[in-house]
Amino acid sequence: MAPRFPTKEGAGRLDVELGWSAGAAPPALQIDAEGISMPGEFAGKVVVVTGGSRGIGRATAQLFAREGASLVLAASSEANLATAATAIAESGAAKPMTCAGDLRTLEACRALHATVSEHHGRCDILVNSAGATRAGSFLELPDETWTDGFALKFFGAVRITRLFWPMLKAAQGHVVNVIGGAARTPEPEFLIGSSVNGAFATFNKGLSQLGKRDGVNVNAIHPGTTETDRTKVLWAQRAQALGKTVEEIREQIMSRSGVRSISQPEDIAALAVFLCSQRARQIQGVAIAVDGGGTPGVY
Ligand SMILES: NC(=O)c1ccc[n+]([C@@H]2O[C@H](COP(=O)([O-])OP(=O)(O)OC[C@H]3O[C@@H](n4cnc5c(N)ncnc54)[C@H](OP(=O)(O)O)[C@@H]3O)[C@@H](O)[C@H]2O)c1
Repeated sequence: MAPRFPTKEGAGRLDVELGWSAGAAPPALQIDAEGISMPGEFAGKVVVVTGGSRGIGRATAQLFAREGASLVLAASSEANLATAATAIAESGAAKPMTCAGDLRTLEACRALHATVSEHHGRCDILVNSAGATRAGSFLELPDETWTDGFALKFFGAVRITRLFWPMLKAAQGHVVNVIGGAARTPEPEFLIGSSVNGAFATFNKGLSQLGKRDGVNVNAIHPGTTETDRTKVLWAQRAQALGKTVEEIREQIMSRSGVRSISQPEDIAALAVFLCSQRARQIQGVAIAVDGGGTPGVY
């Protein structure tokens, strides 16, 4: 059995397996507090991150930038995008391009695709992380809120993936869909998000079958509760629906899931980057939870 990581004896064999040119020294693995990385693996790659201005999308963009990729961040607020791009540049990475638009609309999805086509002419990695489905009492959430929930997280991802697919196919690239554990554990106070996530998970799996044919790697991440701006909004909405305080909701989530700590956006970002690396090339069509073990059940 081939060693998992290059050793003196196994390096040549692994070079070939991982597609490195014969005889060339493989990139050295670097292990630090932020995980295992392969410096330079993403140099020259164009990575598009929707929802890249905040939370999980921003942390993912930051990590790809650290690995040498050229980033394009998409979100609705120009100001938030500018803040994220500046922070990434200040960390020593290349400053990401940004593209502001309401990704609930086809026009904004097309504008993002046009910007990337014009400036880069390629896309190697697409991370779909824009989402803002709201929580609340099922009986009180009207049609518009349901439509709105699907418009961004589900239809935005579907449209953007469809637009970028030819470039992803040409690059033999990767799609990472940031979905959410509620796809597996739906709840009455989060029925829109649960339904969107369920549909998105099905889309992810079906798309991965096309990815097998076209050479595009497609996988999903199901974050558990992760500390971002969104969490605060969701907790407030749940608290209102259940007549509890935000602190009571936080405690309920912690005790019900049994997790010791809430995930940070960087925990999700680390898996997103790994899924797009050569070492993950045989991982296709899966959905991996990053939730500290909070999801009950086998799947
Ligand atoms: N945090 C969690 O606990 C958790 C758990 C499971 C799944 N998830 C999923 O992970 C994804 C990212 O969540 P997050 O926690 O990182 O959320 P977040 O911190 O609220 O960030 C959401 C991102 O989506 C963008 N966005 C919102 N509305 C948009 C619109 N109409 N058009 C374009 N972009 C828009 C935001 O951009 P602006 O700055 O322009 O608003 C922001 O960049 C979501 O799909 C979420 O459902 C999160």
